Amino acid sequence: MNFRCELKRVVDDSYDIEIGRRLQQSLIADLKSGLCGRVKKFAVVTDSNVLGLYAAEIAGMIKEAGFSAETFVIPAGERSKTRKMKEFLEDSMLEKGFRRDCAVIAVGGGVVTDLAGFTAGTFGRGVPFVNYATTLLAAADASVGGKTAVDTPLATNLIGMFNQPRKVYIDIDCWKTLPERQLSSGLAETVKHACLGDAEMFAFLEENIEKILRNDPAACEYIANKNCEIKYKVVMQDERESGLREILNLGHTVGRAIETVSDYTLLHGEAVSIGLIAQARLGRELGFISPENVDRTEALCRRAKLPVTIPEGIDRPQLLDKLYTDKKVRDGKLRFVFQKEIGSMVCFGGNNFGKEITREQIGRILDQM
Ligand code: GLY
Repeated sequence: MNFRCELKRVVDDSYDIEIGRRLQQSLIADLKSGLCGRVKKFAVVTDSNVLGLYAAEIAGMIKEAGFSAETFVIPAGERSKTRKMKEFLEDSMLEKGFRRDCAVIAVGGGVVTDLAGFTAGTFGRGVPFVNYATTLLAAADASVGGKTAVDTPLATNLIGMFNQPRKVYIDIDCWKTLPERQLSSGLAETVKHACLGDAEMFAFLEENIEKILRNDPAACEYIANKNCEIKYKVVMQDERESGLREILNLGHTVGRAIETVSDYTLLHGEAVSIGLIAQARLGRELGFISPENVDRTEALCRRAKLPVTIPEGIDRPQLLDKLYTDKKVRDGKLRFVFQKEIGSMVCFGGNNFGKEITREQIGRILDQM
């Protein structure tokens, strides 16, 4: 006997991204109006830096609104984005009586939103979650788009799931408490978006990068809006990365590898900046970008206070090996995506944006850096 289990699904995972300042009240109003359905119990997941700045206040406001809330705190930093920390969150939530009738509110940067989103996706086989992004890196990339994951000792983001939040709040006001190094790290993802999708945005960054580092309100609002606009155009066409979404990995093949080899002494954006320059220099050799536009990209990263060369102490043979742990590797071959001049991407036919690159080709470029 054979049975066919018909399980076709029509899914609407659409959600809002609210960009503004001091959005705590907006979050509370949304929870009251049923953003997470009938949930009355909220796990506020945050890190040791953000707890005192924003998360404790948000948990307090949720309680004042008549719900129950507990905070769950991980140590700040990329080293917390692990399976072990996911287990810690899950066990802590279970101990505090959290079951399937809860929702997760992630308050923090990319590590918190990636880890909390993944935890929410598997806790009780899936509970709703909301991202309250407090950093530029989370605003530019991590909190939007539904990729959630943890790192493993082998490489970053290898274990995870697509899991879309119920809503994303991008609170630009929180950037004022970001250390400059963290703001610069977020700027790498911002420069990446300009390189891959918007020449005007690139020119704006060239005009205003120092203003952004000084937290100029208008300049920060501009980049918050632009980052979302560019990322969403891509994600809405290819949520599961069957083709186009690969372009969002610009600079990440080398970036992710160097981040791991540095043992996370480089911040994500710092590693991505080095990766952006590596792909631009390789792209120049392959005729995808002019020397002038490579120089512009490099100059912009420098002005954003980002590294553009490989720091001393990075083991280069280990870095080359680590490139092969990238998720874009197919049949053991490295694949890179390339910016086309500034503001668009090289397409290799159809929906294919990846090009096979040999170890020797990328090795030569890394030797010059
Ligand atoms: N961070 C790359 C992506 O969201 O696809």
